[in-house]
Amino acid sequence: MTPGLYTGPLLALLCLLHGSEETCPSMCLCVSDTVSCSSSGLAKLPLSLPSFSVTLDLSHNHLSWLGPDGFKRMPRLENLRMAHNKLSSLGHGVFQNASSLRLLDLSSNMLHVVEQHYFQGLWRLEELLLFNNKISQVEAGALSGLSSLKMAYFSLNQITHFPFFSIQDHSHPFLTMLDLSSNRMTRLPWEDVKALPGLVQRGLYLHNNSLICDCSMYSVFWHWNLRGYDSLKDFTDEHTCTIYGDPRASIRFLRHTRFFHNCTVEKAVSQPVTVLLSNVLVSEGERVRLDCQTSLSSTDLSFTWLSPSKGYITQASINDTLISLFANGTLEIQAAKVNDTGLYVCTAVDIKQALNATREVNVTVLLPVAESFNTGYTTLLGCVVTMVFILMYLYLTPCRCSYCKQPKPPLIPIAAYDPSTLTSVFSPSTRQQPKIQTNKHVAFMEPMISEEGTELTPES
Ligand SMILES: *[C@@H]1O[C@H](CO)[C@@H](O)[C@H](O)[C@H]1NC(C)=O
Ligand SMILES: *[C@@H]1O[C@H](CO)[C@@H](O)[C@H](O)[C@H]1NC(C)=O
Ligand SMILES: *[C@@H]1O[C@H](CO)[C@@H](O)[C@H](O)[C@H]1NC(C)=O
Ligand SMILES: *[C@@H]1O[C@H](CO)[C@@H](O)[C@H](O)[C@H]1NC(C)=O
Ligand SMILES: *[C@@H]1O[C@H](CO)[C@@H](O)[C@H](O)[C@H]1NC(C)=O
Ligand SMILES: *[C@@H]1O[C@H](CO)[C@@H](O)[C@H](O)[C@H]1NC(C)=O
Ligand SMILES: *[C@@H]1O[C@H](CO)[C@@H](O)[C@H](O)[C@H]1NC(C)=O
Ligand SMILES: *[C@@H]1O[C@H](CO)[C@@H](O)[C@H](O)[C@H]1NC(C)=O
Repeated sequence: MTPGLYTGPLLALLCLLHGSEETCPSMCLCVSDTVSCSSSGLAKLPLSLPSFSVTLDLSHNHLSWLGPDGFKRMPRLENLRMAHNKLSSLGHGVFQNASSLRLLDLSSNMLHVVEQHYFQGLWRLEELLLFNNKISQVEAGALSGLSSLKMAYFSLNQITHFPFFSIQDHSHPFLTMLDLSSNRMTRLPWEDVKALPGLVQRGLYLHNNSLICDCSMYSVFWHWNLRGYDSLKDFTDEHTCTIYGDPRASIRFLRHTRFFHNCTVEKAVSQPVTVLLSNVLVSEGERVRLDCQTSLSSTDLSFTWLSPSKGYITQASINDTLISLFANGTLEIQAAKVNDTGLYVCTAVDIKQALNATREVNVTVLLPVAESFNTGYTTLLGCVVTMVFILMYLYLTPCRCSYCKQPKPPLIPIAAYDPSTLTSVFSPSTRQQPKIQTNKHVAFMEPMISEEGTELTPES
């Protein structure tokens, strides 16, 4: 069959349907503003496509190249589907005259490089589907003009490097989904990743890559996990990394955190941290610092905190060594108690200019739940073991002396037991060790949109 075969009567009919000057290519179906040429065996674009098209479906064909004239005179085209073709590259200016595009589906093709010029002029594009190609490289400026982009799918390719730095708040204000899963990235430029807009971080999918386990990687995922991002919750087991880059030594790092015990992420978080956000989650006994950075920039400010448990706190009123108020307004509580939970309001007053400003911090102090459970659990076990021995003593006597002389109670005095050594004996609770640790650390509850990537590393 020859594509583009001129079938007179049908064409004439379609001409009538579409106001006479428009033609529907013979192998396509044209219905109102939708043109479907899918599974038509096309090796080239039809010579003339109707200019009224809003949706054009060219998927499941044999297209291998698109040239500059492909979509000219299609000012209304919004949805272009070209999945399952054989495209390995795109010429310059392919979409130059299709600048109304909102959805571009190039998935399941054979693209190797996403070149800088591919999507030029598509400033209305919202959804870009490039999954299941052979992409190994995304050029630095390839996504730069796409200022309306909401979702970009790059999974199932061979990408080793991605230009994270090219995605910024002002360049891509609407981007909420960036799927880079199932690629071949081993190391990411984590500083660039942490600098991504908060919405992009929340919608960044990186599972099933070839990441190499290291602390900087772990630290980033640890914080994302703390914030409960769906990408981590939905693909917990697909988040793997390889130890020393050895593909045989692959671990599910969201489940098995032992390898990362030496990483500073946890140490850093247990240190007092200056609060940048207005929600603070802390475990009982931890030190917490609440800063009072407000819009006032004068260096001569006086600060007052209103706390839920202690009322007004000023520098003069403090007679408690467990609380300090620094000259810059930072309030430090040495060991937070559950009673310290609540809303803290700081007022900064600029006396000279008679200005004041407030800052609110919502503090939640949690009991270290896992630990108390653990203690109860081991105490219970101790009781059971004691009971068994008492019963044995009562019912198994008299016995041979060699047996009796060793009533060595396996029961270590409860007060002296070290939970970390005991829990390793009872396998069910060893799994809980990492959880206990995460519960103990100062952590931030983040509002929906993070202000800057910098708050990822609170150790600063
Ligand atoms: C295609 O776009 C170019 C550059 O934007 C413009 O000069 C040209 O007139 C357009 N052609 C058509 C047929 O719209
Ligand atoms: C992981 O990626 C490989 C290709 O890199 C793919 O074949 C495989 O299906 C992916 N696995 C999952 C669970 O997504
Ligand atoms: C962690 O540190 C300890 C001592 O500080 C060391 O013995 C151990 O090998 C380290 N573990 C890893 C995985 O680096
Ligand atoms: C701190 O001072 C207040 C009065 O300023 C007093 O009522 C309170 O008992 C003092 N607290 C302690 C712990 O000394
Ligand atoms: C406030 O001062 C304390 C102690 O000098 C310091 O540790 C802290 O970082 C300061 N906070 C800010 C926000 O500058
Ligand atoms: C918390 O406060 C209440 C009364 O305000 C007090 O009875 C209780 O003992 C406090 N608990 C702790 C752990 O300080
Ligand atoms: C802050 O300023 C407002 C007016 O600007 C004033 O009504 C208020 O009392 C001030 N609060 C404090 C704590 O100085
Ligand atoms: C403070 O945070 C807790 C949970 O983190 C929440 O239940 C509470 O409503 C918050 N309070 C305010 C005043 O935002």
